[in-house]
Amino acid sequence: MSTRAPATAAAASAPAFLWGVSTSSYQIEGAASEDGKGPSIWDTYCRQPGRVTNNDTGDVACDHYHRYAEDVALMKRLGVGAYRFSVSWPRVLPKGRGAANEPGLAFYDRLIDALLEAGIEPWLCLYHWDLPQALGDLGGWANRDCAFWFADYAALIARRTGDRVKRFATFNESSVFTLFGFVMGGQAPGIVDRNMFHRAIHHVNLGHGAAIDVLRSHVKDASLGIVHNIQPCRPATPAPEDVKAAALFDAYWNGAFADPQILGAYPPLLADLMEPWIQAGDIARICRPIDWFGLNHYSPHYMKAWDGNPLGVGWGPSPENVRRTSMGWPIEADAFRDTLIGLSKRYKLPVYVLENGTANPDVVDDKGEVNDPSRIDYLKSYIDALGEARAAGADVRGYFIWSLLDNFEWGSGYSQRFGIVYVDYATGQRIPKASYHWYADLIRSTAARP
Ligand code: NOJ
Repeated sequence: MSTRAPATAAAASAPAFLWGVSTSSYQIEGAASEDGKGPSIWDTYCRQPGRVTNNDTGDVACDHYHRYAEDVALMKRLGVGAYRFSVSWPRVLPKGRGAANEPGLAFYDRLIDALLEAGIEPWLCLYHWDLPQALGDLGGWANRDCAFWFADYAALIARRTGDRVKRFATFNESSVFTLFGFVMGGQAPGIVDRNMFHRAIHHVNLGHGAAIDVLRSHVKDASLGIVHNIQPCRPATPAPEDVKAAALFDAYWNGAFADPQILGAYPPLLADLMEPWIQAGDIARICRPIDWFGLNHYSPHYMKAWDGNPLGVGWGPSPENVRRTSMGWPIEADAFRDTLIGLSKRYKLPVYVLENGTANPDVVDDKGEVNDPSRIDYLKSYIDALGEARAAGADVRGYFIWSLLDNFEWGSGYSQRFGIVYVDYATGQRIPKASYHWYADLIRSTAARP
């Protein structure tokens, strides 16, 4: 990247670029029913045969709940300045509301204290998809009350951690968990219903605004944001029905959350569809000032008209000459650069890339090492693209790799490895991959820069 030298004069006087890594609670913690934790909708979903590859579950995952100190030590050796993790709502509020679970809160105290001790800034995300099942039983995000249960949960976390944590994100990838959870299939709670989907969108937006207000009032010097997955949604063919399908998908994927939250309006294509669920005053409740925009980005989408779900949209083939990751996602760093430039202009907020990385078929070799040159190539090309975006004026202030550890990749279970640290799921052993050492060198070299 143009990380070797500040890309612009403005960057030279800006705060140091922040390097980090990201994870999420359900994907790494394990201890799914330990110390009073309640079940989440993902605990339930994983128990429905055929939902997840190999019927894998997050019951043990990376056992981070017990091995967090080792994981913080790995981050310290890596040299990252920040770590983005999420709190498991059902671990701290087993029924989603009401009585808090002290051992669950104490776990996050231990984690936060260990991070601070290691000189790593905690970036706490309140919601990375593991809704308490007790709230799922009441309709989950399709129930308007969920927005206010979420704000109460935010208040609990703010009161408990706000003396030490200043960076909070409300939601991670709202369009992903609502699209796949409520209308396209593939994620918890596994519902396919267009009206429930639209209600869920609006209630997540309300929950975001309510939680921002709560965090702002409880945490002195809070720096607040939200994490969105923004990707170009391109038609897979020039056929008019594919062009139309891609435009609709783009409105849901890229606009349904960020636009009302930051610009105060749903995208025009969705306005009529959302209208039945909007009550007087809602948009003002949703559109609250935030301090930064968190971006997750991996690849562009190629969409086509498809009648396999109520939206009438599905994935078409990506261009043949483009390489793909083991998830089948096209590798196109230019799309990352253009996304950074575009959203920086559209939302006018500092941007932190809070997820980028790739799955790879990693194996331990006979020397006990894990060599992942294609991950290093991917990361290099995307970090170069980030440098180009900064040179073009995008206000990008940090970059976090997804993920520190191999982990539970939702519907793909443990079959996809995204970590820069290999996890042997049979033993829990961690083996830093070549990409971990490469990233450590990159961080060191940029820190040494005058
Ligand atoms: C998006 C999600 O936030 C994360 O949970 C997931 O594992 C990665 N991207 C990779 O798919």
